Amino acid sequence: MKTNHCKLAVLISGNGTNLQALMDASFNSNFKISAVISNNPNSFGLQRAEKNNIATLVINHKEYDSKQAFEQALMIKLKEINPDLIALAGFMRILSPNFVNHYVGKILNIHPSLLPKYTGINTHQRVIEANESEHGVSVHYVTEELDGGPVIVQEKVPVFNDDTPETLATRVAEKEHIIYPKVVSWFAADRLAMAANKAYLDQELLPAGGAEIKSE
Ligand code: GAR
Repeated sequence: MKTNHCKLAVLISGNGTNLQALMDASFNSNFKISAVISNNPNSFGLQRAEKNNIATLVINHKEYDSKQAFEQALMIKLKEINPDLIALAGFMRILSPNFVNHYVGKILNIHPSLLPKYTGINTHQRVIEANESEHGVSVHYVTEELDGGPVIVQEKVPVFNDDTPETLATRVAEKEHIIYPKVVSWFAADRLAMAANKAYLDQELLPAGGAEIKSE
């Protein structure tokens, strides 16, 4: 039963501003963050979580001989935490099909581009180099295909002539911090589903660009 306080595990690698947005929203929402896991011991997000008395854990990929061993350690911890949902929030490791398939339908990611455009890293830089007039962010279900799972929501931002990767990242991040908590609250309210590589909101098939954000 996910309706009351869906248990969330958040996986991070860095600053943790999306984690912060999720934590801030969780105090007045239908989800609760049970644990924050980082593959990077220097992740500032760990301090953010500690400040909010949320359990933190470092599983440093550099301490494992293989991706398989790293992911096995991650899975053991996740089994203990037993989350209803795993939210990747700036988690910069590519997860294997074996890992992803284990949690399929219960693992979300936020990616700084209008997927399927600009999968991978350095999206803001690449968008500027390609002279795009718009950019944005996607929240999607995680599947085997890197940044390729069905999109739940996208938000667009304009790209200006004098943008740098930093100014563009800031504009995108503002949208990230709004949409990720919203999508997690939809999941927690049992309004989201994934079947046959497609995402559904309130039993309605979502278009390729995800749901339209309406004020609720
Ligand atoms: C965010 O912009 C997120 O969309 C991106 O990393 C940043 C993490 O920032 N994620 C990816 O690029 C995943 N492929 P944060 O640590 O401040 O939340």
